Amino acid sequence: MSATETAAQIINPDMPDVPPHAPSKIHLKDYKPSSFDVETVDLDIKLFDEHAIVDSTLVMQRQTEGDLVLYGEALELMSIKLNDEPLARNRYTQSEGTLTITDAPENTKLQLQVRIHPHTNTALEGLYIAGSGDDTMFVTQCEPEGFRKIIFYPDRPDVLAVFTTRLEADKRFPTLLSNGNLLEAGEVADVPERHYAIWQDPTNKPSYLFACVIADLDVLTDSYTTSEGRDVLLEVYAKSADIDKCAVGMQALKDSMQWDEVNYGRAYDLDRYMIVAVSQFNMGAMENKGLNIFNTACVLSSPETTTDSRSFSVKSIIAHEYFHNWTGNRITCRDWFQLCLKEGFTVYRDQSFSADQQSSAVQRIDDVATLRAHQFAEDAGPLAHPVRPESFVEINNFYTTTVYEKGAEIVRMIANTLGPDNFRKGTDEYFRRYDGQAVTVEDFLSALSITDSKIEDFIDWYRQPGTPVVSGHQDYDSATQTLTITLSQQTRQVAGFDVPKPLPIPVATALFDKDSGAIVAERMLLLDQATQTFTFENVVSEPVVSLLRDFSAPVQLNYDYQDEDLAFLLKYENNGFNRWQVTQMLVNRILLQGQGAKSSPEVYLQAMAQTLPELAAIDAMLAARLLDIPSAPELASAIHKDYDPELIKAQREGLYQQLAEALKDHWAMLYKQLPMQDYEDSAAARGTRALRNVVLDMALTANIADAAEWAQQQYDNASCMTERFGALKVMVNHQLANADEYLTDFYKRFQHDDLVIDLWFSVQASADMVTPDTIKSLLAHNDFDWNTPNRVRSVISAFTSQPTVLWTQEGLDIYIAVIKKLDDANPVLASRLLQVLARWNTLAEPRRQMAHEQLLELQKQATSKHVIESLNSVLGS
Ligand code: ARG
Ligand code: ZN
Repeated sequence: MSATETAAQIINPDMPDVPPHAPSKIHLKDYKPSSFDVETVDLDIKLFDEHAIVDSTLVMQRQTEGDLVLYGEALELMSIKLNDEPLARNRYTQSEGTLTITDAPENTKLQLQVRIHPHTNTALEGLYIAGSGDDTMFVTQCEPEGFRKIIFYPDRPDVLAVFTTRLEADKRFPTLLSNGNLLEAGEVADVPERHYAIWQDPTNKPSYLFACVIADLDVLTDSYTTSEGRDVLLEVYAKSADIDKCAVGMQALKDSMQWDEVNYGRAYDLDRYMIVAVSQFNMGAMENKGLNIFNTACVLSSPETTTDSRSFSVKSIIAHEYFHNWTGNRITCRDWFQLCLKEGFTVYRDQSFSADQQSSAVQRIDDVATLRAHQFAEDAGPLAHPVRPESFVEINNFYTTTVYEKGAEIVRMIANTLGPDNFRKGTDEYFRRYDGQAVTVEDFLSALSITDSKIEDFIDWYRQPGTPVVSGHQDYDSATQTLTITLSQQTRQVAGFDVPKPLPIPVATALFDKDSGAIVAERMLLLDQATQTFTFENVVSEPVVSLLRDFSAPVQLNYDYQDEDLAFLLKYENNGFNRWQVTQMLVNRILLQGQGAKSSPEVYLQAMAQTLPELAAIDAMLAARLLDIPSAPELASAIHKDYDPELIKAQREGLYQQLAEALKDHWAMLYKQLPMQDYEDSAAARGTRALRNVVLDMALTANIADAAEWAQQQYDNASCMTERFGALKVMVNHQLANADEYLTDFYKRFQHDDLVIDLWFSVQASADMVTPDTIKSLLAHNDFDWNTPNRVRSVISAFTSQPTVLWTQEGLDIYIAVIKKLDDANPVLASRLLQVLARWNTLAEPRRQMAHEQLLELQKQATSKHVIESLNSVLGS
């Protein structure tokens, strides 16, 4: 499959052959219901050696005035019949991406035949080829608008229909799957080498949830009986070499099914639930009804090949896709502007599930770290957009951390404001009212507000881009024993949007007695005006105030703290998340000098030395997190002007070094206290492994004589990938003498396992001392593959963790050449890679100018509307 032959180039005779240089925007305010409803869809997909033929029968009914508009891309129209008669050429028009029938009758049965080319479809949307050789398979990705690459269809989420799907292929592909129930399977009459299967999905669903798989796969089978007494067959499909890595995902599926019954009263509704692992996939996974399709990286897991953090995220993603069955599938989105309706709520649900599988503090730390590193950066730059966007050119560009993670934070604020009982009443009402419908964010809020109408005020969080900054200070009056906290909020105005309004911001607050460290008052403050004061009575002495506990709102906090107050909170806060939060505030105050930061490291280092050794013995996972120093890109996200990557790198490494030295006497003892044991998948065992890897890195940083030896032994005697990869990583980053030898060993051990080889690529591409030449040689490696997004990301996304190299002439040459190369072949991937460069404008000169020139050059050559839209935003044009 060559990258230059793309599906998009199969020119439709009626389609103008010009690149869409001025792609058109669509707007939320222009929403109109579809003029036709679809009752049933009958599909017949016949896969041949070089193409596929798809017959479709759509039974439709007119709803409103207007033309019947069907969308189609890269389809060769072979025949078209309306109510059993061939449709005359003058009764329909075909233009860029649409087929329009002007005077379709009230009841319309449309029969279309098209030819498609899955074998050369590198965009990974629609029906496409994945794998190679004996592992070749054909799979679909239809969200958001891939179904129109399979047939002409009113491909919009508010058109719901019952799908019946016949698949026919050579018997080389014994696995034929689609949504719903298997009705029939057998040989094709008179063609002994071909067979077929017929599936029917009884649920009304939008086309983006359609899926089919034509492959040769093994299956892991299990079952689950729902709270409603339904016996469900569970199947995880993977290529035979991977089938022994499916058990973790299967268990997570059963746990998720039960969790949704207990926590939301939602049971599964079909007799079968299938998951299919695919090695070429643009995103993590897809919630197609009854037939989830997963990136192999997000479903396969085994101790020998998968790190703990990967394995934990497999469980979260399985849960995420399962939870979509109710939040996304049974209740879907009216239009793609409402994407956050299903994604924000479902991310909140998967985060809550994951919090129940480990310490909730650590889960919150990880979720907030991700939000701060990526979403805050997005909201601060030229790609800032509301959680519910108001316009777009290409919806694929809006599968963003703002829609997903900030969307989840809004649901969390609502849930915390209501409390568990009223939140449950609200979600029950949501499912009761809207089951089977395609709805909006307003509908969601109206259901959630049945016990409290103030919840409707959260709508502004969906409409307004930008991260609010909450500033504040306190005044204590000892005569009246009154503490007054003054808080104010400010959100930057983003071009094209109204002057920001004050938002409802829940600020979880506790007052700590300075002498005893005990909590003397605890309250949720609701800041919903520009400035407000909150009074606490009967406070006998001036307390230390802990704010935004558990990160009660997605805001930046600027409180008038002394470093000593933060050190105090590190000691006395009783919630692990809040302790982590103060370490991060201290670190930011030290590292962002020149950005208004003012602290020297002494208080931080001393507080860490006092806290860490003791905590390590009680909660290793939390101890590992408290040693976090934000990554260079994360620090950069807080810098809005004259960002100097070299300076940030030097300051960051300097603090890391000081931290390692401040605790130098402890590393050896800690490392020995955390012995390697037989692999176990418990929170405690994962904590031990996580902390051991951090300690190993610290020990090497502090130049402890034996540490190189520990790394080698840890690699040689590893019981699992977390240990082995942790050791390899420090060997590479600290440039230990035998790092190359170990890299070679790692490659040889795992050369047949793509996901492990991804790790091998990424550890080199993200290495502290990486050079442009290393990146070039990785891209030229025999195992590098442009058609596998996981592999592309294992080099190119890993590379972005080294801004001092990325933001150079050579670094950008490499990065931008990758975007150019992928622009035609896989525009979704190309555009996502481009979005990472959004904050070029904050760089100090001469880097800023250089980046600007390169982006302008790319703009001249960009072809896909995905990349063009992202570039226009990134360049502010
Ligand atoms: N709905 C999927 C999920 O979050 C994401 C699929 C998006 N795919 C895409 N090509 N944009 O679970
Ligand atoms: Zn999702």
